[in-house]
Amino acid sequence: MTRPLQIYIKTYGCQMNERDSAALAGKLMRLGHAMVEREEEADVLIFNTCSVRDQAERKAVGKISYLKKLKRRKPELLIGVIGCMAQNRGESLFRELPHLDFVVGTGQLHQLPEIIASLREDRRQIARLATGSEVLTEMGVHQPEAKLSDFIAITRGCNRFCAYCIVPYVRGREISREIGDVVAEARELVANGTREIMLLGQNVAAFGWNGNVNPPPDDVSPFADLLKELQQIEGLYRIRFTSPYPSYFNAKLIAVMAECSKVCHSVHLPLQSGSARVLKAMNRQYTPEQYLQIVGALRQAMPDIAFSTDVIVGFPTESAAEFEETCQLMERVGFDNAFIFKYSPRAGTRSAEMPDDVPQAVKEARNQRLLQLLSASAWRNNRQLVGTCQEVLVEGPSHRNPARWTGKTATAKSVMFAPQPSVRRGDLHRVTIARVTDMTLFADDIPDLPSE
Ligand code: SAH
Ligand code: SF4
Ligand code: F3S
Repeated sequence: MTRPLQIYIKTYGCQMNERDSAALAGKLMRLGHAMVEREEEADVLIFNTCSVRDQAERKAVGKISYLKKLKRRKPELLIGVIGCMAQNRGESLFRELPHLDFVVGTGQLHQLPEIIASLREDRRQIARLATGSEVLTEMGVHQPEAKLSDFIAITRGCNRFCAYCIVPYVRGREISREIGDVVAEARELVANGTREIMLLGQNVAAFGWNGNVNPPPDDVSPFADLLKELQQIEGLYRIRFTSPYPSYFNAKLIAVMAECSKVCHSVHLPLQSGSARVLKAMNRQYTPEQYLQIVGALRQAMPDIAFSTDVIVGFPTESAAEFEETCQLMERVGFDNAFIFKYSPRAGTRSAEMPDDVPQAVKEARNQRLLQLLSASAWRNNRQLVGTCQEVLVEGPSHRNPARWTGKTATAKSVMFAPQPSVRRGDLHRVTIARVTDMTLFADDIPDLPSE
């Protein structure tokens, strides 16, 4: 092994990238390296990047260009790009950012320790490029220190090819792990102290369905079979998952979710648009009516369920009337949370061939309107919780005010409550909700503060 290095990792993008960064950190730490939080202290700077929107790429490129000066002062410093933008842009990144030492794609992260070691050993070596298709290796690597809530990647890649989306190109074809593998990984995490597991996949509910884009019949759901197995793990309190494509919520999955007490009643259900025509143009496989049916079936089985979603505004050809349909659908569902994105054309995708014809100002206005609707529906939903008793998974002192503790409900809402000697991080604790905002719930044991 080379001498221990100080390594800094910055992560952009989705939870899959967060998981990959954490796994990479775990692996590097096991090899004797240390993770640092400040760029100036590092021997190696790693940027785990996202390509889903132009802004995500520009942010990372801007940041890395800025490091040219640091590299000049400290020539032994290694700087590398990994993740989706590495996969997407490959070799051309070396032309754009000539001070880069390595570019490693999403499927080649297992090669990184070796790449870093060889670049450190021989500084005359030219920069290294490793990109290619996703592999299922090293799925079960975690950081040595247990996290209260941790990720498990159960599928990688995506076969759906929504017209706007670059993910199938950068993450490759969809692959699922074996149930036994996932359960073994979950057991190990729980034995180390993890209490909540977030199952990850671009199309997570399609787990075990062999990459088939047509969802299984009503009585088949390998994903539900996995949930049932995870429910059996003693010491595991909560099971979450993201992101499920709406069409995979069949009767079996909904019934299993309702019967498994550890499966949280909170679903991130990407909508994208409330217009049938736009959904079709996006190559989404459901209509607004079908989306509402799924929401209705989930609510009927779990009346306290909370929904969050993703919406794209300004997809090519989206008219004002079609946008109104999205607003109406948002109102009807009453989401607790939503990520609203302005459409960003991605080279190589199908919709990039259509003119990006909705003006930026219109996209901005539509974005603002949906954020207002969201804030109103989240506040309405939270109001309903005043006076109810909620179970929270205790996280510990709040960052902003350590005199208060924070935790999350099964519906993924943050709750502030007063610390008590008998209540520790990782406990399930019951509190009564006294007041709410659109973002946070406050327990009745918290005194009012003038700042609120
Ligand atoms: N696999 C996830 C989505 C991952 S990308 C799923 O299907 O649920 C996260 C979100 O980014 C998408 O749901 C979509 O709303 C948004 N997005 C993807 N491509 C985009 C683009 N080209 N422009 C704007 N938003 C986009
Ligand atoms: Fe992208 Fe669609 Fe796959 Fe999600 S399901 S990652 S939006 S192609
Ligand atoms: Fe971005 Fe890659 Fe995730 S493109 S959203 S980091 S899969």
